[in-house]
Amino acid sequence: MTKRSMSLVGFMQAGSTTVYAGSWRHPATEHGFLSARYYAKLGRILEEGCFDMMFFDDRLAMPGIYGGSVAEAVRLGARPVKLDLSVVLGVIAGVTDHIGLGATYSTTYYSPFHVARTFATLDHLTGGRAAWNVVTSVNDSEAQNYGFTEHLGHDERYDRADEFLEATTGLWDTWEDGALVLERESGYFADPAKVHELGYDGKWFSVRGPLTVPRCPQGRPVLLQAGSSGRGRDFAARWAELIFTGDLDIDIARSHYKDQKERIAQGGRDPDSVKMLPMLYTVVGESHAHAEEREQVFLNELVDPVASLTLLSELMNHDFSGMALEDPITDELIESVSGVRGLVQNMHRHIGGTVTLADLAGHRATLLQGPRFVGTGAEIADQMEHWMAAEACDGFVIAATHCPGAYEDMVRLVVPELQRRGLFRSRYSGSTLRDNLGLPRPERAVLA
Ligand SMILES: Cc1cc2nc3c(=O)[nH]c(=O)nc-3n(C[C@H](O)[C@H](O)[C@H](O)COP(=O)(O)O)c2cc1C
Repeated sequence: MTKRSMSLVGFMQAGSTTVYAGSWRHPATEHGFLSARYYAKLGRILEEGCFDMMFFDDRLAMPGIYGGSVAEAVRLGARPVKLDLSVVLGVIAGVTDHIGLGATYSTTYYSPFHVARTFATLDHLTGGRAAWNVVTSVNDSEAQNYGFTEHLGHDERYDRADEFLEATTGLWDTWEDGALVLERESGYFADPAKVHELGYDGKWFSVRGPLTVPRCPQGRPVLLQAGSSGRGRDFAARWAELIFTGDLDIDIARSHYKDQKERIAQGGRDPDSVKMLPMLYTVVGESHAHAEEREQVFLNELVDPVASLTLLSELMNHDFSGMALEDPITDELIESVSGVRGLVQNMHRHIGGTVTLADLAGHRATLLQGPRFVGTGAEIADQMEHWMAAEACDGFVIAATHCPGAYEDMVRLVVPELQRRGLFRSRYSGSTLRDNLGLPRPERAVLA
């Protein structure tokens, strides 16, 4: 049995549902998503459980692809609310001391200067706990909120994202460590020889710099990424330090792990310095029967099929309202969608044989794209340990069936079991997120 230490990350949503579409109807869900107190509570719970990090997903539009309207998303509560993440993280930063804080920001709709400044600021204000989940966004509804008619093509989004990362990492390097002098008497504020223009000039972006925020405690925030197509994996191999996957079972996860780590090595980086974490739902009970009952009663009956199709259409950037539930999902259809292609390919492999729209919608609603472990704390710890030992992952991104209860259950019943087995920390040892994840502080690139 391996004793590699496990990373645990909370997969958070600043809105009305978790990624599980029925979560807002769960009897134990708190409807506090419009209050600062709610997010502060989540931060405290996860920090008590010594989680490495909590990060928030994002979407820049209401789901409006299904039937060409947002009506069903609004009526059924299929992710119609998404708050601004920098404000939410600021609230959590104020009530926590150790846990890493991450947000999803789009390389397709934001600009490098804006993103570099936001995360450098967060890293300073948290003493080095910031992380950025780099996404290219998923659909036309988002494009239409930012002055475009349709979303950029799949590979083009990644080309743009490469430039975006060159520009943002460049901006983070415009200040050298030790540039601030702050000599009151002489009036010498900072050393101009240690603050540089960037002069980035690419196909998509040109940024003069320097950044208006001094070099941050972590050098740069920790970079997360979740693309799972071939182009997405190459992008992750170049930039990501933590890779979030939607691998549905242990076989898929093992082959993804091997392939991704090989791509990282081929690109000249150390594969051990990049962590791969699949998304995982846990349903914990005091006994196995109790956990199964919770799964049955609270999970399998809360999702309206139309809510599920609404979210599927949003994620795939394809209107499924014209298809019958028993219609097969063909290879041609997958090729024609411009949204998250890797997700459907993954589901095909997992389900096997003919996959129908009902299969896809069912997964979208109840599993999204990760496994679900059901049982007592010890049983869930067994399965987590098994995935780690099989080199299927370096830890997990924990998604919530309901909130905050799913995290309270994890912290009360599963984390102590992992700690007893020596698989997970009992206290934070480092002061920054990089320290806690065992990631190096990046060298600063030399600028003129
Ligand atoms: C588990 C998972 C979570 C994701 N979360 C987000 C998100 O919060 N916001 C977003 O715009 N895209 C999100 N994405 C989309 C990816 O960032 C990426 O743009 C998408 O998967 C398309 O790339 P691919 O075809 O390489 O997978 C997520 C993808 C996966 C697999």
